[in-house]
Amino acid sequence: MPIEHTFSILKPDATKRNLTGAINAVIEKAGLRIVAQKRIHMTLDQAQTFYSVHKERPFFGELVEFMISAPVVVQVLESENAVLKYREVMGATNPANAEDGTIRKLFALSVGENSAHGSDSVENAKLEIAQFFSGNEIVG
Ligand code: CMP
Repeated sequence: MPIEHTFSILKPDATKRNLTGAINAVIEKAGLRIVAQKRIHMTLDQAQTFYSVHKERPFFGELVEFMISAPVVVQVLESENAVLKYREVMGATNPANAEDGTIRKLFALSVGENSAHGSDSVENAKLEIAQFFSGNEIVG
């Protein structure tokens, strides 16, 4: 299986509740290696660009406002099949539908305040990582 990188965001609902360490423990226990990480406060421009694929969705404004409402932790995670593995570790977007033991089942408050983002494909992971990290910040 290929070693991949995926992009992760620990969202404002997680940083506000001091949950970043607890979520990182779930990530690491699942065998994903955190090879880059930083805490940032996203700008409006960064959030709008990052979620531009959703710009026609009715929740876009609410999503962007939420993502700039408090700091986030952006991460690069590495493992075999990291993209799919992290999506399994996060659980369903809506925590009401998430499996037991997943990040969203354990920690998320709602479909909007759902604690974590993970890339949905290897191609998007590359684009998302490049938006927040330069190559020399990723150390495996
Ligand atoms: P994420 O994986 O970061 O990608 C897009 C985000 O949009 C998603 O997680 C949810 O947090 C958010 N989202 C999806 N549906 C809704 C909704 N109905 N209302 C608010 N936010 C939503």
